[in-house]
Formats: sequence, C-alpha cells, structure tokens
Amino acid sequence: MAGIFITFEGIDGCGKTTQLGMLAALLAAHSIPHLITREPGGTLVGNKIREIILDPTHNKLSSKTELLLYAADRAQHVFEELKPSLEKGEIILCDRYTDATIAYQAYGRKLPVKLINQLNLIATDGLAPDLTLLFDLPVEEAEKRMSNPNSLRSKDRLEQEQRDFHQRVRQAYLALAEKFPDRFRTISALGTSQEIFYQVSQVVIPKIKSLYPSLNNYVFC
Ligand code: TYD
Repeated sequence: MAGIFITFEGIDGCGKTTQLGMLAALLAAHSIPHLITREPGGTLVGNKIREIILDPTHNKLSSKTELLLYAADRAQHVFEELKPSLEKGEIILCDRYTDATIAYQAYGRKLPVKLINQLNLIATDGLAPDLTLLFDLPVEEAEKRMSNPNSLRSKDRLEQEQRDFHQRVRQAYLALAEKFPDRFRTISALGTSQEIFYQVSQVVIPKIKSLYPSLNNYVFC
C-alpha cells in the first residue's frame, strides 16, 4: 500500500512545526502509522548537514554551496526515509521540502529557478508531495513571534536574513500555491494554534480518511 506524503511550508516563524505536531498527535490517537520528519535534518547525515547550513558563524557560505547542501540533505532523506516510509503505507508529515528550495534559494537568494528545479529533480528522483500545506503569515507578524523574549533559542543563519529576503520568500510561496492549486492548500497562520489546526484538519482529514476508516467519525472542533 502506498502512503501519503504531506509537506508543511511557510516563512520562518509561521508556526508550521506546531501544526505538524498537532496533526501527528491526532494520527497517533487514531493509531494511524506515520513518519514525522524534516528538511534539513531528516537523517543522521542530514542532521550533520543541517548543522553546517544553519550555523550563524558560517557567514562565508556561498549561496551555491548552501543550495548543494540542501540538495544533498534531500537526496539522503528521500533514499533513507521518505521512499521506504511510503512503501510501508505511512503518512509522511515533512517539515519543508522542495518548495522551500524554490522559495529560499531561488527567490530569497536569487539563484536561477531552472537550476533549482533540475537539482530538486536529481535529489528527489521525482518524488513529489501529495499535499502541501502553506502557512501564510505577514513577515512582520513572524518577526514579532520570533523576537518573543520567552524564546531561548538564538536566530540561525537563515533567520538572520533581512526583512526583504523573507518578503521575497513569502511571495514565492504564494506564487507556488497559485501555480500548483491541486497540490497546495494555503492556510492563514494568524490566530491561535487551535484555530489554525481547525483549518488543517478540514484539509487533511478528507484527504486521508478513505485509507483510514478510524477517521470516519472524526468531529471537527
Ligand atoms: P528550520 O530550522 O526547520 O526552520 P523552521 O523551523 O523555521 O522551518 O529550517 C531551516 C531553515 O532552512 C529555514 O530558514 C528554511 C531554510 N531552508 C532553505 O533555505 N532551503 C531549503 O531547501 C530548506 C528545506 C530549508
């Protein structure tokens, strides 16, 4: 049985990781087999690549080097985790995938889209998500969330980019959603996590319930 591949996308600070966790909890509560994963860093090797990419002291890393590191992380992830998981019939919840490379490296860093599409194809062997949830949020709002004094974490190399970089990333995501309406669902990331999760469940449950009858009686709330 083939599984279902769901990706979570959006600018830094949009809250997608919280939503991924809430959806994973729902799947677990219904005993639905799933994989929680992320890019960069979905494998042991990928975690090492992630450290290199995000380390704020690596300020000499060129845009092309950065792009190739994301591609290397992805190639390993597809091979080691994503394909085997789909073959087992699991639902994959993946925090970022190929759309992030288009948004950040093509529109953020201004590298050629054509080059990135080619690299994505090499890294993925053509494995595309079945569903992509785009959590859309104004950059100013995301900045407010990330500057929350309760957050102990310091900003990584990508998060340290200027506001116009993140504006370009947001616009790129919205353009991708328009270009691929069958695959993308755009969800407003304004509101409480419960309000946002209501929208997530409205999109995801109908998509997966034919495979998992335990969801037939799910009550949206
Ligand atoms: P992550 O730490 O997971 O950030 P967040 O929790 O905000 O998603 O992601 C690492 C950073 O990597 C994030 O700023 C987006 C960036 N990124 C790219 O620039 N290109 C890519 O292909 C991917 C997968 C991520």
